[in-house]
Parts: sequence; C-alpha cells; structure tokens
Amino acid sequence: MRLRTAIAAVLALAVVVPIGVLWQRSLLPDHYDMAKMGYADYGGGTKAHHHSGTPVAELITDPTRTPDVEEILRVRKTGGRITINGTSPGPTLTAHVGDLVQVRLVNENLADGTALHWHGIDVPNAMDGVAGVTQDAVAPGQEFDYRFVANRPGTYWYHSHQVSHEQVREGLLGPIVILPTGAEPSPLDVTAVIHQYDGVNMLNGHEGNQTIAAAPGDTVRVRAINTDNTNTAVWTTGAPYVVAAVDGTDLNGPTPVGEKRVVLPAGGRVDLLVTVPADGARGEFPRAALVLGSDPGSGQQPAETLDLLSYGDSTDPGLDASHPDREFKYSIGRRPGFLDGKPGIWWTINGHQFPNVPMFMVAEGDVVVFDISNHSGELHPMHLHGHHALVLSRNGEPISGSPLWVDSLSVKNGESYQIAFVADNPGIWVDHCHNLPHAQEGLIAHLMYENVTSSYKIGGTAGNQPE
Ligand code: C2O
Ligand code: CU
Repeated sequence: MRLRTAIAAVLALAVVVPIGVLWQRSLLPDHYDMAKMGYADYGGGTKAHHHSGTPVAELITDPTRTPDVEEILRVRKTGGRITINGTSPGPTLTAHVGDLVQVRLVNENLADGTALHWHGIDVPNAMDGVAGVTQDAVAPGQEFDYRFVANRPGTYWYHSHQVSHEQVREGLLGPIVILPTGAEPSPLDVTAVIHQYDGVNMLNGHEGNQTIAAAPGDTVRVRAINTDNTNTAVWTTGAPYVVAAVDGTDLNGPTPVGEKRVVLPAGGRVDLLVTVPADGARGEFPRAALVLGSDPGSGQQPAETLDLLSYGDSTDPGLDASHPDREFKYSIGRRPGFLDGKPGIWWTINGHQFPNVPMFMVAEGDVVVFDISNHSGELHPMHLHGHHALVLSRNGEPISGSPLWVDSLSVKNGESYQIAFVADNPGIWVDHCHNLPHAQEGLIAHLMYENVTSSYKIGGTAGNQPE
C-alpha cells in the first residue's frame, strides 16, 4: 500500500515537476537584452572573438548633414484610433533618392509610448524604430528625431514598433514614396493603403471606392501597401496591369497580366502600372477599388494568382549565393508550452520557443542564406529588418522569372523558401512574422552582427515592448 502511494507520488511529481520547470523557464525577466537571449547560431560560419563593438545607439546617419526633407509627425490616440497629424493613414512622406529625410516623432498622448519603423527602408540600425532593440519607446510628451538617407526608389511605409500588434491595428501607420532622383511628383502616381479599422476595410482611410482623375491613354502607378495582418489581393478590371515593382524593387521585364490577381503579404507592397483605356479601368482590392478615369464597373476577383517566381525575365541579380558564408534554418513550428508563464500552443523557431530562440550571427560582408520553412499549420508573412533578400527558390524549385527582392515574404504552411542577402548593414535586426499578433506570441528572432553591442533592453523603465 505504502509502496503504491509512493509510486503514485513519484509519478505525479514526474509529471508536475517538468511542467513546473517549463513554466518557470518561460517566465520573462523584468527586462532583458536581445543580444543575450536565446542561443547563438553561427550558420556554419566562424565565431569571431570580439571583446568590444559598436553600440547600436551609434549606428546613425551623418549628424552634420542638413536634411532635404523634414516632417513632424504628431501621434495621438482618441478612443480606439491613433492618428498622425490628425489622420490615419498619416501623411505620405515623399522624398527623392539621395535625400536625407528627417522626421520628428512627437508622442502626444500614447500611454504605452511609441516608436516608428520605416518598413522596407534599410536605415542605419539606431533609426530602425524597434523599441527595446534600437531605441527606447518615446514616452507621452516626448519626441524623437529619425534621420536616414532615402537610398532606393520605391514604395514603403512607416508604422509603430512599440506594442505594434495594437498600435498598428489602431492606425499608427502611413505611406512613404521614394521617387527616382529628379522625378516630378505626378497626380497619376497614387498610393493605396489597405487597412482594416475596427473591422471595416478601408482604402486610404476611407470606405468604398475612390476616383483618380485620369484620361484615356494615361498610365497610372498604383502603389498598393498591405498594412493588415493577413494576405490581401490586388487586380484590375477594364485593362491589364504590369507589376512594375515588389517591395520597392523594380522587376526585370514584367509583362501585362490579364485575368490574375497579385497576392500581397502583410507588410508587402506592389506597384501596378495601368494604362487607362477609353472606358476607364479599376485597380481592385477585396472590398474597394480605385477607379481610374471612367468607371468600367466592378469585376470578379480572379481565382488565379500571378506567380511572382516565374514572372518577368530572368537576369543576373548581382548576388552570387552559391557559396554563402552563413546558412541558417528558420523553421517555424508550433507546440504546447508556456510563454511568460501562460499556457498555450506557441510558435517555435528551429524547435525552440521564445525567448530561447536562435540569434542569427553574421559578420559584415557575409553572403547569408536563409532556409525558411513552415510546418506550423498557419501562414506567416516573414519580415527581416534592414536588408532586402533575394528569393532563390520555393519548395526546392529555383526562381525562373525576374530577380525578386523582398522584405516581406508570405510562407504558407508546408512551404519552404530559400532567400539570400548580403550582410551590409551592421546592427541588431529583428526578423519576425508580420501577422503582428504572431510576433507578440513569440514568432520573432533576430540577426546579430558580431561586432555590434546592444544599447537598449526589452521591458525596463522605458516599458519597451516591440511587438
Ligand atoms: Cu513592418 Cu518589424 O515590421
Ligand atoms: Cu505568423
């Protein structure tokens, strides 16, 4: 009898103790350093022995240069809506390649603090706007100056990276357009910011269709920006479209597309060129349209999706990834466990759960390959900060169309992608899912340059909470 009780007790402990240990290990400290969490993954490269390095806070743009474009963005929360200078989306920031852009963020009343990230622009690390990683959150009544050089033309956007899963949903976002040097702004160059406010799908902050004054023969550039957490789609009615650019990089040899839609991942952008026919055309989104000239009426969403991996003409991408210096796995799974003491079915990266996830260690100049795979049961739009990555293959099949450089990549359950980039922007760069609640649930890791040291902490007195 006693033996039975003892065995039962031992068995109970055998279950309870490991669970307790898992629970205890999952607790996040009050503040922690991104550069000291998880474990270092050298991706087959060598471990350097740096005893010092450049602090993140020093990775800035030339402080003596006079800005070419200056903006002040005042952020305010009223009810469940966050506006920037009174609107959401906030004002479109327009610059030309080579311009030094200086933006002053003023936090009027966001109690959690805030920070601005320049999605798709490869800014110096201390300007990246990730609270707790590249700066402290800006408290109510405080301000912060961002300075960066607009180094490539294209369509980008800015958004909060402090409690981002709430602040972005509530409207803390806006478009950025970088024009080629010397290009004149044109009324035929328009943005289409797709965002759901309080469950209502809006285009540029308005419900329903919008009309662009365009004459037959005009070519309109529609810059579609997906600021939501899930994929959306873009297509046209009345005229074919050409996908001129993806995530701010022009495609090579794109051809007109008829009965297909383009799928736009969370965070992603496409620039469509549409030449307006006599009867007008529409740039269409699932719940609204941009009417270009006369209204041809609405069409059906095409069932077929344009495959960007075989679109346009193949050419030398200017990056040889056949002998990478580092090759990392970013394998996304899911399993039951605890996250900060909370039970749930949480995301895993290479079998590890946040915060025990890999830090991807690189040295400046490395050619880096990532093998991203997803077996988590859900789709994840993956976003690496500070770099543009070249798509090499999907499910083992090499890309056959135009070189495709992305900063936001939709990875479906069961899919795998191989991407490559050059580590040419020192810093600590988060690499996370842009379905922002997923990031908040631990689907976030980071790229760590080995000669860089951190300057900020998650949590702490600034209350830094990047996701
Ligand atoms: Cu657009 Cu880390 O985000
Ligand atoms: Cu996700």
